[in-house]
Amino acid sequence: MSAKLLDGKAVAARVRAEVAQRAAQFAARHGRRPGLAVVQVGEDPASSVYVRNKRRSSLEAGIESFAHDLPANASEPEILAVVHALNRDDRVDGILVQLPLPKGVNADRVMDAVDPLKDVDGFHPVNTGLLAQKRPRLRPCTPFGVIRLAQEYGIALTGLRATVVGASNIVGRPMALELLLARATVTVCHTGTRDLRAEVERAEVLVAAVGKAGFIPGEWVRPGAAVFDVGINRAPAGNLVGDVEFESAAARAGWITPVPGGLGPMTIAMLLSNAVDAANFRAAAKSSA
Ligand code: GUN
Repeated sequence: MSAKLLDGKAVAARVRAEVAQRAAQFAARHGRRPGLAVVQVGEDPASSVYVRNKRRSSLEAGIESFAHDLPANASEPEILAVVHALNRDDRVDGILVQLPLPKGVNADRVMDAVDPLKDVDGFHPVNTGLLAQKRPRLRPCTPFGVIRLAQEYGIALTGLRATVVGASNIVGRPMALELLLARATVTVCHTGTRDLRAEVERAEVLVAAVGKAGFIPGEWVRPGAAVFDVGINRAPAGNLVGDVEFESAAARAGWITPVPGGLGPMTIAMLLSNAVDAANFRAAAKSSA
C-alpha cells in the first residue's frame, strides 16, 4: 500500500472534542444544553445501529438527546405530528429523521416538514438551495465530513478534477455542491453514465457513494488520487467494506479512507457539529427578532 490513510476516526475525535467545547459554551451562555432529536421509525437493523451511535455520541459531547421511536406501521400523519411537535419544542435545536422510512411513507413530505433552522441533516430544500447558491448554512453531514477530512490532511481541492460516483439526494448531489464550493472541477456519475471507468480514471479526487461492495475496481483509480469511500457494505464474509476495492486502490492512490473508520465516524461528528451550529443560529435568530 502506498496511499496515506485518511483516518476518519482520529479526525472525528478531534471534531467531537471541538463540539463538546462549543456545546459547553452554549450551555454556559443560555442555561441549557443544545438539544438533538433523533426520530426512528421501525427497526431497520442498520438504522438502529446508526441511531444508537448518534444518541450516545450526542450525550458524550454535552448535547441533550431526545429519542422518538415509532413503530414500523406508524402512518405519515403520525410521523408528521412528531416532527411538528419537535419544530415547536424550544429545547430541540436539531431534528434528524433516520432514513430510510418505511414503504408507504413519503420521505420528501417528512423531510420538508422539518424546520430548516433545525435541519441538522441539511436535507431540507432550503438548505440544499443555500448550499447550491454558495451560502451554506446547515450542510449534509457526509459531504461536509469529506471536506473537513480533506482540510485536515492539507488536500487543497481548488482546481482538482473531482468525480462523484452516485447522485443521491443525501450524498452524491450535496457532495458535488460541496466540491464545487471548494472550487474543484466536478463530474457526477450515475446509472446513466456512459463510460464510468473513463470518468473514474480522470479523477484526482474520487468520492464513491454507491452502496455496493467493491463496485469500483482499484485499477481504475488514478495514481496519486485522493479516494473518499462513503460506502458501508456488508461483505459475504460478514465484515464491512466500501464501494472501492481497497487493497488494489490503496496501491495506487495518494490518500484513501478506510472502511470502517473513514466517513462513518466523520458523518456522526459533523452531525454533532451541525447540532451546535443550529443551536447558535436559533439563539441568534431569536435575539435579533
Ligand atoms: N440514512 C443513511 N444516512 C443517513 C443520514 O445521513 N441521515 C439520515 N437522517 N438518515 C440516513
